[in-house]
Amino acid sequence: MITLRDYLRLLPKAELHCHFVSTLEPARLIALADQYGVALPTTDPDELFDYDDLADFLVAFRAATDVLRSPADLAQTAYDGVRAAVAAGNLLYREYGVNPQYFAQRGIGYTELLDPIRDGLRAAERDLGVGYRIVIAINRRESARAAVELVERMLEHPYPDVVALGQDDLTPKGTEDPGRFAEAYALAKRHGLKTTAHAGETETASAEDVRVALDVLGVDRIDHGYRVLDDPGLVARVREERVPFATTPVSTNVLSGWPLDPDHRIARMIRAGLNVSVSTDDGVFFRTDLGREYAEALHDFGIDAEGAKAIALAGIDGAFCDEDEKARLRADFTAGFLALDAALAP
Ligand code: ADE
Ligand code: ZN
Repeated sequence: MITLRDYLRLLPKAELHCHFVSTLEPARLIALADQYGVALPTTDPDELFDYDDLADFLVAFRAATDVLRSPADLAQTAYDGVRAAVAAGNLLYREYGVNPQYFAQRGIGYTELLDPIRDGLRAAERDLGVGYRIVIAINRRESARAAVELVERMLEHPYPDVVALGQDDLTPKGTEDPGRFAEAYALAKRHGLKTTAHAGETETASAEDVRVALDVLGVDRIDHGYRVLDDPGLVARVREERVPFATTPVSTNVLSGWPLDPDHRIARMIRAGLNVSVSTDDGVFFRTDLGREYAEALHDFGIDAEGAKAIALAGIDGAFCDEDEKARLRADFTAGFLALDAALAP
C-alpha cells in the first residue's frame, strides 16, 4: 500500500513548461560557473536560490545561461536532466523552452545551440523512453524585430522536434506585454508552428495580458495565466475553449509568496474547470522537481487521486507532439494509473 503523496510522486507525468537551462542540477551549475569564471549573483546556495520576485530571479537565470558553453555541456545537461526527472517524478514526456537570444549574445548560434541539446534529448529518449519537443522562446527584453529574426532562423533551420514559439524573460520595462510580438507569432503560425506565451504571471500583469495572448497572438496554450481569474467572462471562455494552461505551482510560491493551499490561484483554476497541467518552470532555481509539484503542491491544494490523474492527462492534451505520440502516452499513463490505483491505501 502507498500513501497519496507517494501515489502523486509516482504518477506518470508530462511536463509542458520547463526552461532548458533550469534542468541543470545545482552542483553542475555551481561547478560550471567555477570552471568558466562566471560570476553568479552569489555562491551561497541558500541565497542563489532565494529571490524577491521574477525580475530578481531573472538575474540569476541569465547568469546561469552563461555556464553552458560547450556542446558537451549542453548535451550532458539535456541527458542528465531527463534522468533526474524520471527518478524524481516518473517523467514520460517533456517540452523545453530554449531561448537562443541569450546564447547568441555570447556567440553561440542557433544550430550550435540546438544540435547538442537535441543530441542529449534524443539519447535520453532512446535510453529512457522519455519523449520531448522544443519550444523556442522569444526573449522579451529584446525588440519585436529581433523576435521576427528569431522566427526566420527557425524557418531556415527546421528540426522535426522544434515545433513551437513561446517567450520568456520580461520587457525592458519589466512588463509582460505579449502583444509586442504579434508579427513574430503571425509568421510562426503561417508556417505551421505551434505557439504559447508566458502571460498573466507577474504582479503587474492582468487578465488582459492573457486575452491579448489569445486574441492578438492566437496562442494554442498559455504558460502561467493566473490572472485570468480576475476576469470571470474570460474564465468562462477559456473553460469553454479548453485552452491549456501550463502552470508552475512552486515557482509562484518562491516568486510571488503565494501559499500552496486550496485558495491558491492554480487550485481555483482547477476548481473552475480549466484545462490545467503542472510543471516545474525552473527546477534548479526553485528547488523543485515534478514529483514535488504533484506530491507537495497538488497535495496541499487539496487535489485527490482522481484530480491528479486528470491534471497528468491535461499534460498530454496540451502537448505539441503529434496525435500518435499522444495516443501512446495516454496508453502508458492509463497502465500506470491502474497499477497505482491498486496500490493506493484506502
Ligand atoms: N525565464 C525563466 N522562467 C521564467 C518565468 N517564469 N517567467 C519569465 N521568464 C522566465
Ligand atoms: Zn516559465
